[in-house]
Amino acid sequence: MTDHVTIERPEAYPGVQVIRFNRPEKKNAITKAMYAKMTNALTVAGSDPAVRVTAFLGTDGCFSAGNDMADFMAFAMGGTMGQEVIEFLKALAMAPKPVVSGVDGLAIGIGTTIHLHCDLTLASARSIFKTPFVDLALVPEAASSLLVPRLMGHQSAFALLAAGEPLTAQDAQDAGLIWKIVGQDAVNDETLSLAASLAKKPPEALRIARDLIRGDRSDVLARIDEEAKHFASQLKSAEARAAFEAFMRR
Ligand code: COA
Repeated sequence: MTDHVTIERPEAYPGVQVIRFNRPEKKNAITKAMYAKMTNALTVAGSDPAVRVTAFLGTDGCFSAGNDMADFMAFAMGGTMGQEVIEFLKALAMAPKPVVSGVDGLAIGIGTTIHLHCDLTLASARSIFKTPFVDLALVPEAASSLLVPRLMGHQSAFALLAAGEPLTAQDAQDAGLIWKIVGQDAVNDETLSLAASLAKKPPEALRIARDLIRGDRSDVLARIDEEAKHFASQLKSAEARAAFEAFMRR
C-alpha cells in the first residue's frame, strides 16, 4: 500500500475520515496505487458506522496536480489502463455519506473534478482550478462533461473543460464549484471542523437530505463510463503521446 495518500481518523474530529494526498514532491499527482487506496477508504467509510464524513485534503500549496503523467505515458506506450481510476470515480460519485474537501493551491485535472462529487469544498484564495484535458489531447472525466455545464452553463464549462482556462478560487466560488474561501493556513482545520460538524448531525436525516439534494446518480455513472471510453482511446493517440513526451522533457 502506498503512503502517497494517507487515511486518518483524527481523534480531535470524531466521525471524520481524512484522505490526504501526501506526495508533495510530485505535486500530489495521483498514481493507480493511490486511487486504489482511496477507493478502499471510501468503501470502508460507506459501511463503517464510526465514519460519518470523509474529507479530502492536500498539502501546503498543492491539492493535486491530477493523474500521474508517468501512468498516462505507460498506458500510451501500450500498457494496460487498469480499472483503478474508474473504480475510484464511481466509489466517489456513489459515496453514501457526505464528502468534503479542502484545497490550498494547485488543483489540476481530477484535482479539480473531484470537487464536483463533494458536498462542501473550502479553498484558499491562492487556489487555482484547471483542467487541461484537451491540451493533453484528452477529454473530460469524472462526469465533468455532464456536471460542469449543469453547474455553470455551457460557456463557462467550455472555457474550463475544453479551453483549459483556469479558475481562481473566487471564480470557482462564483461558479458554484466550491462553497467558501478561507485563509490558506486555515484550510485543513476549517475543513476538518466542517466535517466534524456534519458528523454530529442526525445521520439518517443527513443521508436522506443529501440523497434528495444530489438526486438520481445513474446518469453520472453512465457519463463516467462514456467519458472513459473516449479517454482511453485518446490516451493511445499520437497527439496525446506527443503531449506527455513534451511534459516529461520540459
Ligand atoms: N504527474 C506526474 N508528475 C507530476 C505531475 C503529474 N501530473 N505534476 C507535477 N509532477 C512532478 C513534476 O514532474 C516534477 O517532478 P520532478 O521534480 O521529479 O521533475 C514535480 O512534480 C514538480 O513539478 P514542477 O512542474 O517542477 O512544478 P511547477 O510548480 O513548476 O508546476 C504544475 C506545477 C502542476 C503546474 C506542473 O507540474 C504541471 O503542469 N503538471 C501537470 C499537470 C497535469 O497536466 N495533470 C494532468 C491533468 S489531466
